[in-house]
Amino acid sequence: MNFLEERILRDGQVFGNDILKVDSFLNHQLDPSLLSQIGEAFHERFKDCGITKILTIEASGIAIACFAAMKFNVPVVFAKKARSNNLGTDVYQTMVHSFTYGRDYMVTVSRKYISPEDKILIVDDFMANGLAMEGLIDLCHQGGATVEGIGICIEKGFQAGGKLLREKGYRVESLAIVEEMGENGIRFREQAS
Ligand code: G4P
Repeated sequence: MNFLEERILRDGQVFGNDILKVDSFLNHQLDPSLLSQIGEAFHERFKDCGITKILTIEASGIAIACFAAMKFNVPVVFAKKARSNNLGTDVYQTMVHSFTYGRDYMVTVSRKYISPEDKILIVDDFMANGLAMEGLIDLCHQGGATVEGIGICIEKGFQAGGKLLREKGYRVESLAIVEEMGENGIRFREQAS
């Protein structure tokens, strides 16, 4: 079991069969030591890919992306969910559907920050159906950039996102993959460490 799986078992809370609360250390209150380890783990996996930029989506992805970016020594760009007046009109946009929240939302990145020379690592805290990641991939492609990989802290392996993205040929590295959870606890997918 790796450091993140251990922390999830220690401090995560399961609601029903499909919601895992990790807000005491990952996406509300933040544990910087853990985030640093996460950044190091993504760097270890993607350090030979020539990453030029880390892309994420607000809000919870930002802290994770920053700690990872420190290790790669590259900038972070985060896609905005709310339309911001000072972004101007020179933007890439794509629509994302969230099953968890039952709504569609537009994500936006300024054209200045994604270009054809970029080799991008996309990161986020959770992946469920993968639609937020599909949206970020679309933004990268609109800008002509290459998606080198996707780094996820917690993948919900019983939802389709990881499988679909891997079938499309993307390199998806998830630090913890939850196979099932419920009142009997959490079972992780075994992965080579
Ligand atoms: P998808 O992108 O993989 O298709 O998934 P979906 O829209 O259904 O859910 C993504 C959002 O829901 C993310 O929040 C993610 O953090 C959150 N989420 C999904 N499953 C869980 C879960 O089991 N536990 C927790 N705590 N969150 C979950 P977001 O839209 O990125 O919002 P934000 O929190 O970053 O602002």
